[in-house]
Amino acid sequence: MTEPDIQPDKQPRVYIFDTTLRDGEQSPGCSMTVPEKLRMAAKLVELGVDIMEAGFPIASEGDFEAVRRVSEEFPEVRVAALSRATTKDIERAAAALEKAKRPRIHTFIATSDIHLQYKLKKTREQVLEDAVRAVELARKYVEDVEFSAEDATRTEMGYLEAISEAVVRAGAGTVNLPDTVGYSVPEDYAERIGRIARLLGERAIVSVHCHDDLGLAVANSLAAVKAGARQIECTMNGIGERAGNCSLEEVVMVMKTRRDYYPYETGIVTEQLYPASQLLSGIITFGPQPNKAIVGANAFAHEAGIHQDGYLKNKSTYEIIDPRSVGVPEGKLILGKHSGRHALKERVKELGYAELTPEQVDRVYERFTSAADNKKGFTNEEITEFIEAAIEKAAEKVS
Ligand code: KIV
Ligand code: ZN
Repeated sequence: MTEPDIQPDKQPRVYIFDTTLRDGEQSPGCSMTVPEKLRMAAKLVELGVDIMEAGFPIASEGDFEAVRRVSEEFPEVRVAALSRATTKDIERAAAALEKAKRPRIHTFIATSDIHLQYKLKKTREQVLEDAVRAVELARKYVEDVEFSAEDATRTEMGYLEAISEAVVRAGAGTVNLPDTVGYSVPEDYAERIGRIARLLGERAIVSVHCHDDLGLAVANSLAAVKAGARQIECTMNGIGERAGNCSLEEVVMVMKTRRDYYPYETGIVTEQLYPASQLLSGIITFGPQPNKAIVGANAFAHEAGIHQDGYLKNKSTYEIIDPRSVGVPEGKLILGKHSGRHALKERVKELGYAELTPEQVDRVYERFTSAADNKKGFTNEEITEFIEAAIEKAAEKVS
C-alpha cells in the first residue's frame, strides 16, 4: 500500500489526469502498442502530468501489459487502471498494478436513466450498490480509488448526489463526473460540479472528464474548475472517443495565459507541450489539424501582411503566447499572397541575403507577388530562387 500524496487541498492546485493512453488510445487511428505507450509515457512524465491512465486491463492483454509496464517503469508518477464496477475488472486492474509504487484503480458505472434503462438494465438502487461494492473491493487492493459516474451530465441531480456521497463513504478519494457524450455547456456543468464539490467538501477531489462533441470540452472543464473541481482529465492533441477529450495543451495554456480568470497551478512543464504533441503524432496515424490551438502547424504562423508587419515590429501585437514557452522553436511567418514587403525582407535576411540592395528586394517582391496568386505559400527554396533570379538580373545589367 502506498501513502496517497494527493489530498483534497485548499491550494489552487489543479491535478492533470492524462488519459491519452486510455481514452485517447481507444479512438480510431490511435491504437498504440505496449512499446509505443511506454515511449509516450516517458514523455508524459517529462511533461509533468500528475496521473497517467495507462489502460483498461480487462479489455485486452495489451492493455494489461501496458498498465503493468508503465506502472513499473515510471514509479514517480501515479498510474491509473480503468475498470468497470465488477469484481473481475477490479481484480484484473489490481493485478496489472501489483508492482506499482503509486497505483490508482479507476472504477466506473453509468448513472443516467438512459444508460440504466437501455444499457445496464438495472435500477438506480442496484447501480448504487454496485458502485459501493466496487469501491470497497478496489480499496482492498489500493488506497487511491477514483469513482466515475459515467454519463453524469445526463444523470438526475439528486441521484448523482446520493451516489457521490455513497462512494466517498465507501472509500473513493476522487469522484469524477464525466460529460461522457459531450452534451454539457459551461453554465450547466459548473452548476452540477459546484453542487457535488460543496457536498463532498474536503472529503474528496472532484474531477472532470469532458468530451468535445459540441466543441466545449475545454470550456466545460475550465468552468468546472471555477466551480470547485480540482482534477482535469484530458489528452494530448485532444484525442479520444468520437470528437475527442478535453485537450491537455489548451486547458493548461488557458490557465497559464489567463491567470486573471483562472488562478490555478498545474505541474505541467509547458515547454514539453509541443514535443509531446509531435511525439504522439508520430506514434498514431494523424497529427493535430494545422489550425489547432497551441500545437498546430499554424498556431504561431502569421500570413496577413498587416499582421506580419505588426508582429515584426513587436511580437505582442499578434502573439499572446511566446511559442518557446510551449516548446515551439520560434514563430513562423508563412509567406503567401497576403504577405507584405516587410515580412519578405525579413525572410530574405534570414536566408542569408542581408546584403541585397533595395532594388533587388523590390525585384524579389515583384516576382513573389506575381507568383503568389496561384500558390498557398512558398518554401524557403522557392524564395531563394526568386532572390537568385533577382541577383542574376542585377548582374546582367552591370555587365
Ligand atoms: O467518457 C467517459 O465517461 C469515460 C469514463 C470511463 C471515465 O471515459
Ligand atoms: Zn471518456
